[in-house]
Amino acid sequence: MRKAYTEKFPENFLWGGAAAANQIEGGWDEGGKGRDFTSYCVNGIMDWNPMKAKSMNYHPGRDSIDFYHRYKEDIKLFAEMGFKVFRTSIHWTRIFPTGEEAEPNEAGLDFYDRLFDELLKYNIQPLITISHYEMPVTLVEKYGGWRSRKLIPLFEKYCETIFNRYKDKVKLWLTFNELNNMRRNPEYVGGIIPKPGENKMQAIYQASHHMFVANSKAIKLCHEIIPDAKIGAMCSLSNIYPHNCDPVAVFETQDCRRRSLFYPDVMFKGYYPTYINRLWKEHDVDVKMEEGDLELIARYRNEFLAFSYYRTTTHEVGQPYFGDTGGDFGSPNPFLETSDWGWQIDPLGFRFTLNELWDRYQVPLFPVENGLGAKDIVEDGKIHDEYRISYLHDHLVALKEAIKDGVEIMGYAYWGPIDMLSAGTFEMAKRYGFIYVDKDNEGNGTLQRLKKDSFDYYKQVIESNGEQLELPEKLLR
Ligand code: BG6
Repeated sequence: MRKAYTEKFPENFLWGGAAAANQIEGGWDEGGKGRDFTSYCVNGIMDWNPMKAKSMNYHPGRDSIDFYHRYKEDIKLFAEMGFKVFRTSIHWTRIFPTGEEAEPNEAGLDFYDRLFDELLKYNIQPLITISHYEMPVTLVEKYGGWRSRKLIPLFEKYCETIFNRYKDKVKLWLTFNELNNMRRNPEYVGGIIPKPGENKMQAIYQASHHMFVANSKAIKLCHEIIPDAKIGAMCSLSNIYPHNCDPVAVFETQDCRRRSLFYPDVMFKGYYPTYINRLWKEHDVDVKMEEGDLELIARYRNEFLAFSYYRTTTHEVGQPYFGDTGGDFGSPNPFLETSDWGWQIDPLGFRFTLNELWDRYQVPLFPVENGLGAKDIVEDGKIHDEYRISYLHDHLVALKEAIKDGVEIMGYAYWGPIDMLSAGTFEMAKRYGFIYVDKDNEGNGTLQRLKKDSFDYYKQVIESNGEQLELPEKLLR
C-alpha cells in the first residue's frame, strides 16, 4: 500500500526517555539480587575486568542514582514532562541471581511489578530491554558467557518467566541491547572475556550465533505468551563517514559499517548474508550451528528496529576499526562540533541514518538512545543547559525531516532523561539528564533531583506532539 506524504509526527508517537537497570537502580545486592556483569566492572564497561572489583570499597555502579528506592519520585517527573514511554531493562540477576536457579526470585519479580504499575498509573508504556549489559557473572565464570550454547535455554527460561509475569503490563520488548557491539566489545555484550591464544573472532561469531538463536526463541515465546506485544531488536548505529573521497577510504567505511549492519541483517532478513562468509574465511571462523537454527532465525524475526544514535565519526585509509559506547570511533570531522567527551554532534547524520535503515529494512524504526552527555553547572539551584536543548532541538528537527522523507518511526526515547552513571566510564559527571541528580564521581551528594531548563523544553515538545520545536528566545541563533 502506498504511504501518504506526511509532515507531522504520528498521533500515537511514543515520546519518552530511556535508561538501563544497571545505570540507575543501585540496590545492587538488595532483594536477593545476584552478581551482574556491570556491577563487577571497575571503571565502567570499557574497563571490564569483572574480578578486580570484588575488593573495592566504593563502586559507583552499586548504588547508582538509587532508582530502586526512588522510582516513584522519578516517574512522577517523567509524567510531568508528558512521557508516553519509558525504556528501562530488567536486571536478569534480580530474577535469576546466578542465571541457573530452578525458580525465579519473587522479590525481584515484585520490584518490576511495582515499577511497571507506577508507569502505567501515568499511562507511560514500559519498553523493556531484556538484557542490557547485565548478564549474571556466574554465567561468565562458569560457561564463558555466550560462547556456550548452554546460555540459550537459560535465557529462554528467563524470557518465559518475565513474559508470563508481565504479560498484562508490558507490550513493548527489546531482546539484547546493542547486539552489534559484539563485534567491537564482546566482553560486556556477550560476557566474552578473552582467553590466551584464543581466536577472538571465532568466539565473537559463535557467541553471536547463539544470541541470534536466543533472540528468535524469545520472539517465538513473546508471540505465544503476549500475542498483542511487539518485540524489537536493538543495535548501536551511530554512523561513520569516509574521511575523504579516496575510494579505499570509502570502501573500508562500507566494510566497517557492514560489520555492524550484519546484526540487523540477520535479525530482519532472517538469514546470514553472503558477505560474512569471506570475513569468516579470512579469520578462520567456523560457526557451529545445530539443525533447526537457521529455520528458527528465518521464521522468528524482530518487528521493529530500535537503535542508539549519538554521533558520527570518520574513517581514514588503514585505520583500525575501534568503538566505544557511542559507536565507531575514527578521526575528527572538521565540519562538526564536539561534546565535552569528544563525541561529534551530527543531527543531519541522524536523518541520514534513519533513511539508511528504513531503505535497508523497511520495518518501523525506534531511536531509543540519543542524547548529549555534558558537564552541567548548578547556579542557585538552576541548571541552564542550552547546549542540551540545542542538541535535542537539532536532532528532533532531523527526525521530523526523516518523517517527511517517508521513514516510519514509532517514537523517540531520549537517552538519559535523568542523570545516571555513564556506562562507558562510570562517571556521574557525564550528565545526559533533563533532571539533575546531586551526586558526584566519588559518590558524594544528597541524590536530590532538580529540573534543568531542558526539562521545560522537552515538555513543550511532547505537549505539542513535536509541533513546537522552536528554541526558547534566548537560544535563537
Ligand atoms: C549506549 C548504551 O551504548 O551508550 C548505554 O546502551 C550508554 O548503556 C550510552 O549509557 C551512552 O554511553 P555512556 O558511556 O556515555 O554512558
